[in-house]
Amino acid sequence: MGARAPASDWANDFDHLDPRWVEDPYPIWQELRRTCPVAHTDRFMGVYFPTRYEDIRAIAYDTENFSSRRAIIREGRPLLPPTPPLTSDPPAHRADRKVLLPRFTPAAVEKLEPRTRALCREALERLSGKTECDAAADYAQEIPTRVTARMLGISEEAGELFRRWVYEALELGVEQPDIAKRAIAEMGAFFTAEVARRRLEPGDDLVSYLLDVRIAGEPLSDEHIANTLRLLLLAGITSTWSMIGVSLWHLATHADDRARLAAEPGLIPTAIEEFLRAYTPVALARQIVKDTEIGGCPLKQDEMVLLHFGAANRDPAVFPDADKVIIDRAENRHAAFGLGIHRCIGSTLARMEMRVALEEWLAQFPDFVLSPGAVVKWSSGTVRGPRQLPVTLRR
Ligand code: HEM
Repeated sequence: MGARAPASDWANDFDHLDPRWVEDPYPIWQELRRTCPVAHTDRFMGVYFPTRYEDIRAIAYDTENFSSRRAIIREGRPLLPPTPPLTSDPPAHRADRKVLLPRFTPAAVEKLEPRTRALCREALERLSGKTECDAAADYAQEIPTRVTARMLGISEEAGELFRRWVYEALELGVEQPDIAKRAIAEMGAFFTAEVARRRLEPGDDLVSYLLDVRIAGEPLSDEHIANTLRLLLLAGITSTWSMIGVSLWHLATHADDRARLAAEPGLIPTAIEEFLRAYTPVALARQIVKDTEIGGCPLKQDEMVLLHFGAANRDPAVFPDADKVIIDRAENRHAAFGLGIHRCIGSTLARMEMRVALEEWLAQFPDFVLSPGAVVKWSSGTVRGPRQLPVTLRR
């Protein structure tokens, strides 16, 4: 990885890969909201960073001036294949999204819950007798990788391969486009083979389902299916494992909240909403279609916008005590799953995975703390979450 020049000034030269931002972005955002609510950088060929809820909302809803065709900010502009519906703009977006919705209804998600619970128990079983573990690698990452594999009708063992692709496409690949391209090509080949296999042996899985659906009477091309599957893999895994990980990080570092949730598991769904608000993992992007303005700030055509829903969720104009994590916060209409036409279609699934993961962990380990001298490593790039989280399990 090339050594990066540190950001000299967050308002005019911000860098979301700067280690200070990766470690603790919230004070930076707070300061910007007060002093320069739409920051800019010439890095990554020009990016704006809005920090106020209203501005982020306005951009997410304005699909005429802001396109999703480039959804990730990277060094250089590698020609990456699209990932419908995330990178689709109107009018194509509506149909690309609609075909997926039946697989993500509450009823469809409910069917995945028993296996999700069993996976959590199996991961906890592997930790039995231990007093130390890496809650990110040994637990958080285990769950969505395997749930996603199951949803796609692929062996859960492929979870390991998925971890590598996620790391290469969304973390390493942000600075090293060749690595992203390679991972994306590998995923493309993998899913093309899966599509061919399912054509011969259809099952009750998402790949077979995508082979059956029609848009305007036409089947989806193999390429469209492979690209959508790649999106579901990346979107479904990283954000959810990041949220399970950061929730455990919060509980390992806040004894009162941990004791309260262990004693009152009924509060877990409310606490999860607060973790989603306060530690929103996903920062996607938009490309500016034509010169425009936001919150009084002129924006130049072709540059990018870092659309960080986490910045919206920390705006004190909308959330009182926005930088405080209040696990029984009553009013919490956060934007962690996005706003507007691209709002996450996997939110019910993600919430179920987070709830089951926390219920099972707290039932097994009601008392745990960060290990003494622990180094917590946070991912940088599109999705933020702990990738290394050493904890001590007390019995
Ligand atoms: C806690 C976990 C998750 C978070 C925080 C999250 C967040 C988001 C956000 C912020 C967007 C909007 C992107 C934009 O406006 O450009 C989005 C879109 C999307 N998410 Fe999620 N997501 C999560 C889990 C999932 C899961 C589990 C899946 C499916 C397996 C999924 C599939 C998608 C898809 C397909 C889109 C694109 C929707 C569209 O463009 O119409 N996500 N997600």
